[in-house]
Amino acid sequence: MEKMWSGRFAQDASSLLEHFNASIMFDQKLYREDIEGSIAHAQMLCAQGILTAQELASIEEGMAQVLSEIESGKFEWKIGDEDLHMAIEKRLTTIIGDAGKKLHTARSRNDQVALDFRRYVLRKNSEIALAIKTVMRTIVDIAREHATTLLPGMTHLQHAQPINFGFHMLAYATMLKRDIERFESSIARNNVSPIGCAALAGTPHNINREMTAKLLNFDSVSINCLDTVSDRDFALEILFNISTLMMHISRLSEEIILWSSYEFRFVELSDEYSTGSSIMPQKKNPDVPELLRGKTGRVYGNLMGLLTVMKGLPLAYNKDTQEDKEGVFDSVETAEISLEILREALKTMTIKKENMANACKLGHLSATDLADYLVEHCGVPFREAHFITGKAVARAETLGIDLSEIEYKELHAIDERIKEDVIRYLSIEHSMNARTSQGGTAEVRTLEQIIYFDHYLQEIQ
Ligand code: ARG
Repeated sequence: MEKMWSGRFAQDASSLLEHFNASIMFDQKLYREDIEGSIAHAQMLCAQGILTAQELASIEEGMAQVLSEIESGKFEWKIGDEDLHMAIEKRLTTIIGDAGKKLHTARSRNDQVALDFRRYVLRKNSEIALAIKTVMRTIVDIAREHATTLLPGMTHLQHAQPINFGFHMLAYATMLKRDIERFESSIARNNVSPIGCAALAGTPHNINREMTAKLLNFDSVSINCLDTVSDRDFALEILFNISTLMMHISRLSEEIILWSSYEFRFVELSDEYSTGSSIMPQKKNPDVPELLRGKTGRVYGNLMGLLTVMKGLPLAYNKDTQEDKEGVFDSVETAEISLEILREALKTMTIKKENMANACKLGHLSATDLADYLVEHCGVPFREAHFITGKAVARAETLGIDLSEIEYKELHAIDERIKEDVIRYLSIEHSMNARTSQGGTAEVRTLEQIIYFDHYLQEIQ
């Protein structure tokens, strides 16, 4: 097949090279960005007197046809065309003739791919941010329902202090808020137009980069052409942002997996979002959170892959950069489906309040409250209070009960300063509600956080 760049070549490219060199199998995903970019470029060329109004009109018409051919599945993507840029331009020229051949004036595939890929990444940043918001909405709704549902808060995966389940879920809402902000700040930083940088050094044609930037909704024009055609920071950023998002999702997934086990039984995934075993008829497996946790690994790999491709690349464009797309497409699609399925799995998950409350009767969750009581009501220094409480815990262990169930006389026998009113400080509910410091788990503070997130979600909708 005759190549657009074949002028200086005497022999045809080998088909092995064609397969190895092509990106058309995957970069066709960028067809919309490519066509819109070409139309904006043509409009600018016309405004600058480089194309006639007639030529522009036929480019616009031809591109509309190309677009509809692609969207109806009629467009023929041929490996010999190498990439989508050349396939689309070639088809345009077949449809409209000579005007199509003028489109590439004052541009190169280097700024063209930088434009298409950057616009795809910018669009995905905002789509993913929006999808995260819908998951956040679900999480905040669950939190509202469970602001008084007692749950053992853990450190080292050991019972630590009682919290409520809503508060626990809001920890994830907080992580997701940071994720949203990362995607949004990446848009703000990278919303810069590369088109017009041409191959590496700019162009002698009298172009107007401000105009194409405006037509394509960029905030501004890139500063340095050499940097622009080789910059893939925007792609690394989305890969990092997705990695961090998936890391958060994987932590929540891990908890759902644990909570679904017979050892915990805190939640049950709906049948719709659970799977069975091919051999063990009784099994109900949490494949959804397991896959979310597992996919995180591949997403990290995509980030490491592109960081490695970019490392040590000399300026400016190098073909290595063509390796930027598949990992980004993969991570973006993974993030999109992960957010969607996570939202549905959460919405349909049963929360077993009783089992959470029963678990709170194990592990002496209110031990810190006894120490706090000794400090506040008996004037005991905290270190000493810690020691006395340790004795009380040991006594409860001997009696085979939880500290929240111990009788007053047992405590009084350990330290005379302990009065009868101590008992109410040891209840699990009291312990949870006692943590009223800002950002704490007490119901009032949990409700405050819910209001904060409600407000945040309202503002951004
Ligand atoms: N298919 C190429 C890519 O994805 C487009 C840019 C090619 N430029 C070049 N000078 N070979 O990176």
